[in-house]
Amino acid sequence: MAWKLLKICTLLSICAIVVVASDEEPRAKCADLNNTTLLKYGSTNKIQVQYLLLTRKNADCLNLFTQLCLNHTQKHTAHFNSSLPTKVIVHGYRALGSKPSWVMGLAQALLQNEDANVVVVDWVYKASFAYNLVVDNYKEVALQISVFINQLMTFGSTLESFHLIGISLGAHVSGFVGTLLEGKLGRITGLDPAGPMFKNADPFDRLDPSDAMFVEAIHTDSDYFGISIPVGHVDFFLNGGMDQTGCAHSRFASIFIYFPVYGYVICDHMRALHVYMSALNGSCSLIGFPCSSYEDFLEGRCTSCNSFGSCPQIGLLRNSGITASPLPIHEKVYLMTSSTAPYCVHHILVELKVAPLEKSAEVQVTLTSTPGPDTELTLRLQTDKTIYKKVVGHPERLCKIESIQLRNTGTRLYRQANIHVEHICISKIPKTRKMDSLCVENVEVGRSTPWSHDFVQVC
Ligand SMILES: *[C@@H]1O[C@H](CO)[C@@H](O)[C@H](O)[C@H]1NC(C)=O
Ligand SMILES: *[C@@H]1O[C@H](CO)[C@@H](O)[C@H](O)[C@H]1NC(C)=O
Ligand SMILES: *[C@@H]1O[C@H](CO)[C@@H](O)[C@H](O)[C@H]1NC(C)=O
Repeated sequence: MAWKLLKICTLLSICAIVVVASDEEPRAKCADLNNTTLLKYGSTNKIQVQYLLLTRKNADCLNLFTQLCLNHTQKHTAHFNSSLPTKVIVHGYRALGSKPSWVMGLAQALLQNEDANVVVVDWVYKASFAYNLVVDNYKEVALQISVFINQLMTFGSTLESFHLIGISLGAHVSGFVGTLLEGKLGRITGLDPAGPMFKNADPFDRLDPSDAMFVEAIHTDSDYFGISIPVGHVDFFLNGGMDQTGCAHSRFASIFIYFPVYGYVICDHMRALHVYMSALNGSCSLIGFPCSSYEDFLEGRCTSCNSFGSCPQIGLLRNSGITASPLPIHEKVYLMTSSTAPYCVHHILVELKVAPLEKSAEVQVTLTSTPGPDTELTLRLQTDKTIYKKVVGHPERLCKIESIQLRNTGTRLYRQANIHVEHICISKIPKTRKMDSLCVENVEVGRSTPWSHDFVQVC
């Protein structure tokens, strides 16, 4: 271990010289985000925000930006290439002062998709412990990042070539960077933008569509740590945006915030990040449907994306794949996901038309494909309604559905004896071709015997 002089740039791009420990091994060229402790937090105010670079040329080894603001003809970090787009990752609140563990995974997933400079903003020092104090810091951090971006521009990068990806509070940091740069950044992606202290904030103070040429957000915990209102041009609400499949739910999450179960209770909140990384991995596409509410989406009222050119997709497609112009604003987009990576499901519209009933009834619909699991859906049938629609998420494509089963699950409450189904149709959404629907007509579903139909697979 040796002591080494490092130049650290402050807010006003004045550089200070600080002494940091460094190993003299070749490996020492690799930098990492800082951890901080409550003790360090109280004792020094020196090291605040640092910037780390990952590119295809150093995909396993973060480089620290150091001499950036001293001499512009000097090489900042060897691998930065101003002809390439620059992705900037901004982490969020760190309850325990620990560095985020997912940074390399996200940076590498970005590099797999695009030859780019990936800059990791390390503001762990400013982001830790008391949430309200961290919120006090976020604009100062944004100001520092905007200075940094201005410096990168002197090397030839354009504002449009920047894409900021902010997680939780980092989304609002990114938004404020965008405000400071007058909305001229290329893109901002907010991964479950933080809710507490932001929902009622002025758009100036939080992420909003005026912060970049294209702003998108993915919402996964909008009833707790995430924000419930749309903040981008396009806002993806996963499974309604509140509770995620495979995450346990506790109403008392905040009590545990300083304990090891913290990681467990922020499962919903962190899902946005994991789904985004999975989308970058590209094993399947995560597309959503513009709709006014999740209920309307589930009721099959929003099954096409015609007005957008194509359905918005999570990932790096330009404007999320929306070709319509001008871009929408605050457009809520809904999709379902599964509980584990790669999270994709196939959205299928189930439509049932029954002959008028004398009594209310209940029907269970089961879709089966190999390897499964089956998708089950319960429909409550009423006497004054004959057409029922529901959207379900199924693990396989429509053409892989092997059979459909209907069961008249009436209990004492539902005493309809036989149900005459005029038709039952299952359709892929968005529907693009005629063969995207499978229908069976004139089915009798008795109380004691389930009905089922096998499909010939066409894919
Ligand atoms: C920057 O550094 C180069 C060589 O390292 C030197 O020639 C040049 O004069 C320096 N410029 C300034 C403004 O210090
Ligand atoms: C920087 O990126 C451009 C565009 O991909 C490429 O043509 C150029 O060779 C790169 N420069 C260096 C030094 O790698
Ligand atoms: C990405 O894909 C690789 C291999 O296909 C897999 O090992 C990795 O876990 C995936 N990562 C995510 C975040 O889905």
